[in-house]
Amino acid sequence: MRLQKLLPFMKMRNFDGALISPGTNLYYLTSLHIHEAGERLTVLAVNSNGEYHLLAPNIYENVISDFPVTFWRDGENPYGKLAEILKELSILSGRILVENTMRADWLIGILKLGSFEFHPLSILMRELRMRKDAGEIRLMEKAANVVDEVFEEILGMDLIGMREKDLALKIELLIRERSDGISFEPIVASGENGANPHHAPGERKLRKGDLVTLDYGVKYKGYCSDITRTIALGKPDKKLLEIYDVVKNAQENAFQTVREGIKAKDVDKAARDYIAAVGYGKYFTHRTGHGLGLDVHEEPYIGPDGEVILKNGMTFTIEPGIYVPGLGGVRIEDDVVVHGDKGKRLTRAERELIQL
Ligand code: CO
Ligand code: CO
Repeated sequence: MRLQKLLPFMKMRNFDGALISPGTNLYYLTSLHIHEAGERLTVLAVNSNGEYHLLAPNIYENVISDFPVTFWRDGENPYGKLAEILKELSILSGRILVENTMRADWLIGILKLGSFEFHPLSILMRELRMRKDAGEIRLMEKAANVVDEVFEEILGMDLIGMREKDLALKIELLIRERSDGISFEPIVASGENGANPHHAPGERKLRKGDLVTLDYGVKYKGYCSDITRTIALGKPDKKLLEIYDVVKNAQENAFQTVREGIKAKDVDKAARDYIAAVGYGKYFTHRTGHGLGLDVHEEPYIGPDGEVILKNGMTFTIEPGIYVPGLGGVRIEDDVVVHGDKGKRLTRAERELIQL
């Protein structure tokens, strides 16, 4: 179990314990499938000797085995039980790491149990999770294969006249047939809607002359993929074709810089400088990419402020885009792993403009 990997980090930085609520960190550390606990208090307590104990609602009684756990049932006060666990582990005070996404009502309840100095768990977890091992990379490759397959399916559809939201639903169905589900709500942005990087698919019908941006991802055994392709229906505006080439070249430039030892911001710079040099700088409005793993957005972030030094096994997206209000937009996104002295693409769908 990866939980023991926390210990050297906790000792080095003088932490007395950690309180971990459900989420991808809990899954990463324990492989327990407690993804959404809702409002019922669920906390894994760990001390710096590596002793640990879980408090969980009894709805998980049949799911958790071979794990030190105390169950509580509806009607009981779970905080009293948590206090006993913290006392047993000698972490009713001290420097305690807390899951960043812990619910505020739980944290307020826990504050009353002792005198703690809380710190965000992410400061240790980022060190553990940024570099993926061979098993994790295999799952990410699978997740990437699924989005490539779904892209092929989309190309075979009769898209003209389809509403954006209908295409988004079809993408979601194709994903659910092939994986654990979506890693985020699919984006379908057609025509002028393409100028909004996070457009929510709506009523607009796809028509001849549109560029259509498709951004979607899957979860495969917990690991995420995230792809964007922009396709053309019929013959789009010449300006949009020019923008497409700029984005494609920027994405390739950024990809070619990837290797161990450079900083995340160097990858961002390769895309950003190219787009600025050809005059579209002000239309590239977001960072170049984000880390990818159990979460669809995680470290390392590939932006102008990305100080993380890239190492083998780090996985992230490269997704420059150009968005021109009133006209439309283009984004091309691949998932990449740092592999030796270069990057390796996990997503392999065609990047040349496809005109249907
Ligand atoms: Co995306
Ligand atoms: Co992305």
